[in-house]
Amino acid sequence: MLLGHLSICRIIESLVFNVTAKLKRLVNHIRISLGDKKNMFNTKEFIETSLTEIRKTLGQGRVISACSGGVDSTVATFLVHKAVGENLIAVFIDDGLRREGEPEFVMQTLKNLGVKSRYVDAKKEFFEVFKGKTDAEEKRKAFRERFYRTLGKAAKEEKVEFIVQGTIKADVIETVKGIKSQHNVLSQIGINPEKYGYKILEPMRELFKPEVRKVARELGLPKEISERMPFPGPALSLRVLGEVTPERVAIVRKATVIVEEETKGLGTFQNFAVLHNDMATGIKVGARVYGNIVTVRIVESEDAVTAKAKQVPYNILVRIAKRITEEIPTVVRCLYDLTDKPPSTIEFE
Ligand code: XMP
Repeated sequence: MLLGHLSICRIIESLVFNVTAKLKRLVNHIRISLGDKKNMFNTKEFIETSLTEIRKTLGQGRVISACSGGVDSTVATFLVHKAVGENLIAVFIDDGLRREGEPEFVMQTLKNLGVKSRYVDAKKEFFEVFKGKTDAEEKRKAFRERFYRTLGKAAKEEKVEFIVQGTIKADVIETVKGIKSQHNVLSQIGINPEKYGYKILEPMRELFKPEVRKVARELGLPKEISERMPFPGPALSLRVLGEVTPERVAIVRKATVIVEEETKGLGTFQNFAVLHNDMATGIKVGARVYGNIVTVRIVESEDAVTAKAKQVPYNILVRIAKRITEEIPTVVRCLYDLTDKPPSTIEFE
């Protein structure tokens, strides 16, 4: 009986969530159609106001930005660069959890944009804090602690008072609702950044992802940035279920390359691979082996608040499964995730 009530509650909860999101979009659409200028996002105005506010906050002071190369942090970095020029130094922390070729891509992009930047190799320190940790929230906490310590060290070395972060509205909402603690929302999770020796500047915390992309286009950032697929701050650590080790990250990194290559044309919101913590029996080179399981997740979404599992053409899924199990020696099984958000989240952890 109790189980029955719980199921009904979950169904109602899921319906309300979906209907509310759809209603919000519909109301917005009607407003825009009716020419409700007041509620429309004005990109130029946002940029102008932000530049003035950033200059007022920072004055002549130097500032660093934590730039991972994702659309949010790159837009935040470039916005502040536009406001204060050489007083900004973009810091890219290589935590060993980035996708294939990402560190090189980010450093090159910053150079092309004329942003002063610094590469911090922190791979060893990050893998150290993950040792023995398998719980999702514990891993997030470990990542966050290490991230802010590394950033704090860079801030001290650069003698800055402020750090720029690309926090957006969805990060704030999900953290406040307690769905999960986003690593870049500090005050809501009871972290006082001043404890790490600096203050935080978040110029985009009132924007949703589509608005961030509009700002990116208006600022003239390259397509590889403005249309970049969202990628979480804690990176591949969220996609390695269980302990995060260099070897396990290497498996998910390789699977990610395959998923991204095979799904390039789909235009979906996020396409990625996840390495499971348990193992399964399979056959490799004619012998039974106990190997890894990888799940492929491909979702459509507008703002990451809700998402739909993509109905990917079957031949693409088969090709992905074949490549992942052939090109990654330890993987014996490849699955496709059919779940929407809610009840799932986009990431597994
Ligand atoms: P979930 O998994 O909560 O993800 O449905 C919603 C969106 O947020 C991304 N995500 C994160 N981004 N730090 C981030 O910067 C995080 O800790 C984090 N967790 C999830 C996720 O990839 C999706 O786009």
